[in-house]
Amino acid sequence: MAFDIARTRAAYPALAEGFVHFDGAGGTQTAAGVIDAVTDAMRTALGNRSAAFVPGRRSLDMVAAARSAVADLLGADPAGVVLGPSATALTYTLARTLGAGWRPGDEVVVSRLDHDANVRPWVQAAEAAGATVRWAEFDRTTGELPVGQYADLVGERTRVVAVTGGSNAIGTVPDVPAIAKVAHAVGALVYVDGVHAVPHGPTDLASLGADVLVTSAYKWSGPHLAAMVAADPARLAALRPAKLIPSPDAVPDRFEYGTPSFALLAGVAAAVDHLAGLDPDAVGDRRARLRAGLTAAQAHEAALLDRLLAGLAERPAITVYGSPARRCPTISFRVAGMSPLATQEALGAAGFCLSSGDYYAYEYFQTMGLRDSGGAVRASIYHYNTADEVDRLLTELDAVAAGGERMAR
Ligand SMILES: Cc1ncc(COP(=O)(O)O)c(C=O)c1O
Repeated sequence: MAFDIARTRAAYPALAEGFVHFDGAGGTQTAAGVIDAVTDAMRTALGNRSAAFVPGRRSLDMVAAARSAVADLLGADPAGVVLGPSATALTYTLARTLGAGWRPGDEVVVSRLDHDANVRPWVQAAEAAGATVRWAEFDRTTGELPVGQYADLVGERTRVVAVTGGSNAIGTVPDVPAIAKVAHAVGALVYVDGVHAVPHGPTDLASLGADVLVTSAYKWSGPHLAAMVAADPARLAALRPAKLIPSPDAVPDRFEYGTPSFALLAGVAAAVDHLAGLDPDAVGDRRARLRAGLTAAQAHEAALLDRLLAGLAERPAITVYGSPARRCPTISFRVAGMSPLATQEALGAAGFCLSSGDYYAYEYFQTMGLRDSGGAVRASIYHYNTADEVDRLLTELDAVAAGGERMAR
C-alpha cells in the first residue's frame, strides 16, 4: 500500500508545533494512543501488583500487556520479556550477571560500530572477571561490519558476542544472522542491540539469530522505557542476577528492579498497537499487522533516505560518512568549515532538530578520528518525516554551508 503520511502525522500531536524532527534516533515524538493510554492509566485507580483487589489486578494486567505487546513486536515469548528503564540499564544487568560466571581466559566479542551501551557493560564485566575482550572492526570507508572477521574473533572460550542490529551513527545493518551462526557454533550467547534497528522495520528474533535483544520504546513512538528479550526464557531461568530477597524470583521478573512504572507500561503496549496500525488495511493478528505496518513505514523511510542522500551528494561542502549496503535511514555528515555543533545550532535556530557529537557511538568516532573535533551531525529519518521536510533540510543546509564558508574566509 502507499504509505498514508498525512494519516500517520495526524497521530503525533507534537508535530503540530512545527519543528522538523530528524532525530528519531535520539527519541521519537509520542503517538496519541500512547499519550491517551498513559493518561487513562494515571486517571484510573491503580495499586501495587496484587490479585486480591481490582486496582492491584490492573497493574498486573499492565505488566502482562506490555510483555505481550513487546513479544509480538519481536516474534518472542512474553515469558522472555524483561522490562526496564533503559536499554543501558538492562544490558548492564545482564552483563554483570553473566560476567559473574566468567573466568580468566573466557572471551567476549564487541564491535566498534556499536553504541557504547552495547560495548562498555561487556568490557567492564570482562575486566571484573579477568576475561578477554576481542574487537570487531568496521570498514572505515563503507561503514560495513565484515562478517569474515568473526571466524577469527570467536573461539571455544567466547561467552558472548554483542553486536548492533543497526548503527545509531551511520545506519549500518550488519549481517547479524551470519555473525550469530559463527557465535552459535561455539555455544556463545548472541546479544543484539536492537535499539536503533527495531523502529525501522519488522524484527524477528529467530531469523536474526539473537539469543537476547534489547529495544527502547522511546525510539518507536512510546515512553522512555525499554525491554530486554530472550528468545528462550529458559536462558534467563538459568541465570541468577543480584536481587532483593523478597522480590519475585520468577522469570522474567527476577531481572526487574523495584516497582515498575505501570502507567508508562500501558504506553508501551499502546505504542506497539500504534505501530500495528500504521497500515490501516492490514489484517490478521497483531504480529501480522506489525509486519505490514513496519514494512510500509520502512519503504517510506527508505525513499526519504534515498532523496536525502541524493541531495547531499550534489553538495560538495557536505561529507557523509559510510555507505553501507543495508542501512537504517540514519546518516552522519559534516559541513565543510563548520563544527558539527555549529551546524546543529544553525539548523536548530531554523527549527530543525538534529543531533551532533558522537551520540554515544564512542568507538566509531574514535576510530574515525572525528571524536575530538566534535563528531558529526546526524540526520535520522522516522516514518512521520516527509519528502518536503527532506527538501527543506537540504535548502537549509545550503544556507548553513554558505554561512560556514563566510566564516572560513
Ligand atoms: C543503538 C543504541 N543503543 C543503545 C542506546 C541506549 O538506549 P537507552 O537510552 O534506552 O539506554 C541508544 C540510545 O540512543 C542507541 O541508539
